[in-house]
Amino acid sequence: MTTTDSTSAPHSQHLQEARWLTLTAAGVQLQLDLDQDRPRIAHFGHTLAVDPATQRLMASAATPQASLDQLPPNTLFNDAGSGFAGQPALSGDRDGQDWLSDLQLADVGCRHDAQAAHAHLTLRDELSQLEVRLSLQLTAEGVLRQQTTLSNQASRPYRLEWLAAACLPLPVRYEECLTFGGRWVQEFTETRHAIGEGMFALENRRGRGSHQRVPSVIVGTRGFSEQRGEVISAHLAWSGNHRVLVERQFDGSTQLQLGALLLPGEQTLAAGESITTPEVVLAWSDSGINSASQRQHAALRARLDWPQSHKPRPVHVNTWEALYFDHDAARLDELVVAAGDVGAERFVLDDGWFVGRDGERAALGDWYLDEDKYPNGLDPLIAAVHAQGMEFGLWVEPEIVNPDSELYRRHPDWILGLPGRDQPLGRYQCVLDLTRPEVGDYLFARLHALLAEYPIRYLKWDMNRDLTHAASQTGEHAGRPAAHTQVEALYALLARLRAAHPEVEIESCASGGARTDHGILRHTHRVWTSDCNDPHERVHIQRGAGRFLPPELLGDHIGPAHAHTTSRRTSLAFRASTALFGHLGLELDVSRLDHDERAVLRGWTERYKALRGLLHGGISWRLDCLDPHQQAHGVVSPAGDEALFNVSQLAMPRHALPASQPLAGLDPTRRYRVELLKLPEHPERRMKALPAWIDAQLNQGETLEASGEQLMMLGLALPVLDPDQALLLHLRACD
Ligand code: DGJ
Repeated sequence: MTTTDSTSAPHSQHLQEARWLTLTAAGVQLQLDLDQDRPRIAHFGHTLAVDPATQRLMASAATPQASLDQLPPNTLFNDAGSGFAGQPALSGDRDGQDWLSDLQLADVGCRHDAQAAHAHLTLRDELSQLEVRLSLQLTAEGVLRQQTTLSNQASRPYRLEWLAAACLPLPVRYEECLTFGGRWVQEFTETRHAIGEGMFALENRRGRGSHQRVPSVIVGTRGFSEQRGEVISAHLAWSGNHRVLVERQFDGSTQLQLGALLLPGEQTLAAGESITTPEVVLAWSDSGINSASQRQHAALRARLDWPQSHKPRPVHVNTWEALYFDHDAARLDELVVAAGDVGAERFVLDDGWFVGRDGERAALGDWYLDEDKYPNGLDPLIAAVHAQGMEFGLWVEPEIVNPDSELYRRHPDWILGLPGRDQPLGRYQCVLDLTRPEVGDYLFARLHALLAEYPIRYLKWDMNRDLTHAASQTGEHAGRPAAHTQVEALYALLARLRAAHPEVEIESCASGGARTDHGILRHTHRVWTSDCNDPHERVHIQRGAGRFLPPELLGDHIGPAHAHTTSRRTSLAFRASTALFGHLGLELDVSRLDHDERAVLRGWTERYKALRGLLHGGISWRLDCLDPHQQAHGVVSPAGDEALFNVSQLAMPRHALPASQPLAGLDPTRRYRVELLKLPEHPERRMKALPAWIDAQLNQGETLEASGEQLMMLGLALPVLDPDQALLLHLRACD
């Protein structure tokens, strides 16, 4: 009988006789049945006391007529050698031989420490001389991290086509999956699919991550929602090409696989060579998406490599939408002063500062200051920024070169491309071949020189083009696909820079949110969620991004009233109450605001500063709303003594009378004082009378007090809202 581990400390146990392995952490448990030489999942969920022999007897399935005589099991590494008829976890060959593998358990080990319960499973196929090592870690936050290593143990090379980083059998009760995609200024659009017979695959072939295909999926029981249903959320920590697939066969057997997608001939393992996949991060929940997201957030938070871990996330002002390429000294000075006045703490000089960069068609690659725009260097600007109490950040796009640049004219062969083939430009750009050491050295030298010369504390690292003809043009690998090694070279460049300048934070921007995975976040500290700052769109974008990323990593900026990317007009209150739930910044020309507008904006940055400890260290909740045009979400402090909730109305309310909204995540045993922070303007146009608790607060100065249980079970009456209005509710425990 395996023991139930009710503590949250990671624990691992391998019962050799029983051929049973258990990993437990944070109330989550993975139980593997290792009988029959293949690792099968007996249980992934809450901690359970399971007797292996009984469980095996209970779970052992019938063998239907007209099937193989031994049904192929659905395992942690499905391959064709077992007779498995679905997508194998491994495919490749040696000159048309060894294309079928039959990998069976050869070695099992486990251990635990404070961070995780670890297991490794070695599978070997003597005939094809291939070995696979599955590394599993159930972390202290309750997420399962998985990676796969393939070794070629033969004397002939093995040409790899596909190696799943994780292959996860899914219960047949999982009937739906949620995927994330979209486009520029509309990232993280969620699409729900029914899991039916056949394969559903999401492939990214754009090489840099992408807006269109995010390496994440949530699978679960029918109708799973924010607060209900059983789900597994899965994310591939990789910033390149990828494949996410869910496959169900007619016998109901269902699998999920995630991995890096390889182009033809991209990975060939020489004799004795090994390759390790990127990591997959999996989180299980039986209470809707929320707790899977919370586990993903906690596990990522535990790993982030901050320059200063306790430093609050400073309010940004970013120059892009304020100035675009117009780096006029007088305008910059005005912007700096105005930014300081409204409470900004970090000033980020966006595109346009380097020589020849007067528009988007030229100069990328020439990372030297434009001395016409900055005749005395950046020092005067940085001094002005410091004088306003802000730190200084700089925009760069190192992976890219414009054909119209000195760098390209000197080194036309430094770009990724296929000799003899034309390639389309993207934003008038080509991608530099980072796999060539001299390219990495050049970029490191330029960035290092800038960081050494100026007190730059932040780099906004942009990347605005898909990889299309992703091959080195010279050298022994000329013409071979290099999309995969390009990502590895990017990570190496970032790591080199971080080692040389550990005080510098880096933002991952890729035309907004095209590169937001946990792989890039091993080297960076924030993502630019989207170029769209229109809160009406941002509510959706932030919801999708927040499934896998905690709020403090999401760059969320207050844009101008008239959004540049949608032309929609919105109130400052709506823009600010949306942007508050991330890492706040300002993406507008604050110097053009009048005195009163600045005062209101200052009020919002002050509110953010007062709340950021809660927002960036708390537990995120999304609420199921009865009105499909409403979205509600919040953050509750880990101690359960403070919370901030937002309710946004995105189109006309479904009913004249809004339904009461139950909250979530509170301590049911505590009492809370509930304060409405801001009632959207002109309530009299929508209501003759306000909900009683709001009326009492606004007109009698009496704040509602209620138990967490009442607030979560019965909910709060909401006021009628117009489209594009939001409410903010602040709760503090008062007992
Ligand atoms: C794309 C980014 O998403 C924007 O924020 C801005 O930095 C521009 N590039 C600059 O070219």
